[in-house]
This record gives sequence, structure tokens and C-alpha cells, in this order.
Amino acid sequence: MTGPERLLGSSIAGERWSRGLPKAELHLHLEGTLEPEMMLALARRNGVDLPFPDVYAARRAYVFDDLQSFLDVYYAGCSVLVEAEDFAELTIAYVRRAARDGVRHAEVFFDPQTHTDRGVPFAAVVEGIEAGLAEGERELDVSSRLIMCFLRHLDADAAMATLEAALPYRDRIVAVGLDSSERGNPPEKFGAVFDRARAEGFLTVAHAGEEGPPDYIRQALDRLGVRRVDHGVRCTEDDDLVARLVAEQIPLTVCPLSNVRLRVFDTLEEHNVAAMLRRGIRVTISSDDPAYFGGYVGDNYVQTAQALAMSGEEMRTIARSSVLASFLDDTRRAELLAEVDTYS
Ligand code: ADE
Ligand code: ZN
Repeated sequence: MTGPERLLGSSIAGERWSRGLPKAELHLHLEGTLEPEMMLALARRNGVDLPFPDVYAARRAYVFDDLQSFLDVYYAGCSVLVEAEDFAELTIAYVRRAARDGVRHAEVFFDPQTHTDRGVPFAAVVEGIEAGLAEGERELDVSSRLIMCFLRHLDADAAMATLEAALPYRDRIVAVGLDSSERGNPPEKFGAVFDRARAEGFLTVAHAGEEGPPDYIRQALDRLGVRRVDHGVRCTEDDDLVARLVAEQIPLTVCPLSNVRLRVFDTLEEHNVAAMLRRGIRVTISSDDPAYFGGYVGDNYVQTAQALAMSGEEMRTIARSSVLASFLDDTRRAELLAEVDTYS
């Protein structure tokens, strides 16, 4: 029995082991790392009214029935982000927190339309985030990539205009993605936008199969040409789709604590991430919107391992997959894989 096999059952040492496991975080909305303390401080600094008088009221509001009830609160919180320095502060705070959970590489989402529709310049958003990521790399040796998401509840023309606004930043944004309200907004709605994005050299990812049906996962693969599926947990309702995900080793960026908070699963014990791993799907684990869902990526690893009786080697496989599924260059990827493989 290897070290972690022995340790995971016994909680404190096993917890420390899973948390410290070197990993990449591939599904993280920067705006979802806005802790109530920072939200209230920025609201004061920028003169923005919030529906929460204090930190306690904000946390009390973080009880959700589904994805939409969360998004309503999340977009209200985003309104405090105004200046480039706000985005920089948010980003460096995330990288510092993630580094404590063994994160060695992060691929972070941002939602420009949430900000540009309020009059915040695209440049302030990207340049602020970039400054925070660069500081994280200097200070903590955490590498990163930026992924720009389109809001799927808005129309395809708005997404196309956002893509055009991003073209001057082409060398700083590795991929485009698709997020927000999934039901009723299928991936195919954005087919032409993703065609253009791929023609411009962006890689593509998309949220699919979080609340939406397995067919949305197929559309993301076939119509949007995605390299990874964000969430994808509803794939297990369709055996043919599972067989394809296994055969093509398509990575899923699964966020267990998010799925419980948004009622995709009633409890962590009922989550299908361990079953998907054991069926041969390339699953990874991330935190999604950790300020709202009660845990960062380390908490997702620790609590999922405990709830689903996952072994140390299974958790190592997930960490390994996170590095393999990243958009890193070969040199850094090999370096991080060696860190995962030799971790004890
Ligand atoms: N935006 C932020 N978090 C999201 C999630 N879990 N699903 C869809 N859109 C999101
Ligand atoms: Zn997400």
C-alpha cells in the first residue's frame, strides 16, 4: 500500500496530502472568487450599492436552488468590479489562495460582457487580470492561462462583438468558453461565433451537461469543437456518449461542491465523479466559484475523496489529468507531471 493509500482514510494526514497534491485548476471563474469581505470593500471604494449590508448577510444569501438562482447573486456581486486594479486585486488574491491548495497552474475564466455592459472598458478587465496573474507567477511560480467566456443567456451577435473586442488581446487569451444559464441556450446557438474564434486561433471549451442534457455535450464537441467539457456530469445519462468520452479521452472539468450547492446532486456522496473516473473518463476536479460554494479546489479534492472513498492513487490520477488536459506548453507540462508523479 502506498503512502497516500494508507493516509487517505485517516483524515488529517489524508487531507493534508490531497490538499498539497500538485494540480492544475481548469474550471475557475475569477468573478466567482470574490469573497464577501472584498466585495464590500470594493463596493465602498467604488460607491456601488449592494443588496447585502454586511458580510454575514452576503453569506446568508448564498443558498441556491439551481444555477439561475446563483447567477442572480453572482452578477449582483460583479457590479463592484470597476477599475483595472479591482480585477488585479481579485486575481492575485485567488492565486495566493490557490497556491496554498497545491495549484501549480490555473486556467481562469472571465466574463467580459458582465463588465463591458456596465461601461467598464474591455482593456481594464483584461489588463487588471493579466497584472494579477503575472504577479502570481512571479511571487508563487503559479503559471496561468486566460479563457474568455461568452454569456449564453445573451444573443450570438453580442458574443460575436465580444470576440471582436478581444482580437487585440489575441496573444493573451488562450481560449474562449461558454457559461451562464445553460437550459434553453444550447451550444449550437453559438456555432458561428466559435467557428470564427477557432479561425482566429483560439482554442475552445464550453460548459455543457451541468444542468443541460447530454445532447448539449455532443453539440459542444461537434459544433463548437471543444477541447474540454466544463462540468459534463450529465454524460452518464447516455452510455454512447460515455463510450465516446472514454475513447477520445475528452477531459471533463468537474466541480463537485458547486454541483451540490446548485442542486445538480443532492449530496456529495451521490456525486458521479468517482464512477466516471472508474469508467475511464478523463475527469479533473476544480472549484468553479469558490467564494460562493463553500470551498476552494483543495476542499473539493479533500471532501470528494472522503465522500466517495477515493484512494490516493485515484486522486493522483485526477491531478495528473488536470495537467494533461491543460493548455500548457510541453516543457511546463512535463515539469508539472513530474511533480505530480513524485509527490508523496
Ligand atoms: N458562471 C459562473 N459559474 C457558472 C456555472 N457554474 N455555470 C454556468 N455559468 C457560470
Ligand atoms: Zn463554471
